[in-house]
Amino acid sequence: MNAIRIDGKAIAEILRARVAWEVAVLQEECDVTPGLAVVLVGKDPASSVYVKTKTRQAEAVGLKSQQYVLPSSVTETELLTLIEALNLDESIDGILVQLPLPGHIDRLRVLEAIDPAKDVDGFHPYNVGRLAAGCPALAPCTPLGVVHLIKTVVSDLNGLDVIVIGRSNIVGKPLAILLGDAGCTVTGAQLQTRNLPELCRRADIVVAAAGCAGLVRGEWLKPGAIVIDVGINRAIDSTGVTKLVGDVAFAEASKRASYITPVPGGVGPMTVAYLLANTVNAAISRRGLSLVTDRDAASGQPASEMRGVRWIC
Ligand code: GUN
Repeated sequence: MNAIRIDGKAIAEILRARVAWEVAVLQEECDVTPGLAVVLVGKDPASSVYVKTKTRQAEAVGLKSQQYVLPSSVTETELLTLIEALNLDESIDGILVQLPLPGHIDRLRVLEAIDPAKDVDGFHPYNVGRLAAGCPALAPCTPLGVVHLIKTVVSDLNGLDVIVIGRSNIVGKPLAILLGDAGCTVTGAQLQTRNLPELCRRADIVVAAAGCAGLVRGEWLKPGAIVIDVGINRAIDSTGVTKLVGDVAFAEASKRASYITPVPGGVGPMTVAYLLANTVNAAISRRGLSLVTDRDAASGQPASEMRGVRWIC
């Protein structure tokens, strides 16, 4: 078997087109341009690239985008003061503080300082709790992107066995909630999990988010499994060139899986697209307008019940 690649880049492009349409409708009907503030502390090269991409794509869909680059010496108080100003800024609907933060800054205190209504990362404990309680919430972008990718290749998730490897607040934990809500039987695993290969072999869907290059081997997979690789690791190949690799041994896994996401070009673009979608959703719900939760993934068109409806104001 040779797995079909799930093209996250193309699927994200469709989602971004949908978001751009929503931004245009918001502008036309309500004179509102949703605003996104992205805060970067320090000069971590990977974080700098992510922040640039987020800012550029926000502008491309018509959002107002502001980038704040603070030195790694910034104090926690200074960062909290900036967040407070952004909380009060009516033109800002979404606030993202890129992680990781330098060691002298308390990550949780910073995340808790963000107005939950502007928490487009879905990391505030208020949104985490609402997600866990099954209430409408701003949910983290990468898990939303993973579920979206899975739904492009399997229409009914009910009853499927999924293993999520990695239990981070950013990916593993919220993803387990979303997949459970979709009817999956979810095994939450991590690097220390005993019998990891055996547990993987039972799964219809394997999501690798452990941050460990090449962890999931081909022989760990049930034939026909769907494999979603969230890992982004830097590795040096045999010619000495640094390249990005995932948590899945891609060539081996492709021989057994039915569908597989590549790295790069799989989950990564979906994370950014959902940041834009969350920003529009935050702008809509903050103003007491109707929250759009149903984007037609396949076509990028307005969901059928919305089509032609002046749904904003
Ligand atoms: N660092 C790695 N992934 C993310 C993310 O999705 N959001 C933020 N804010 N920081 C990250």
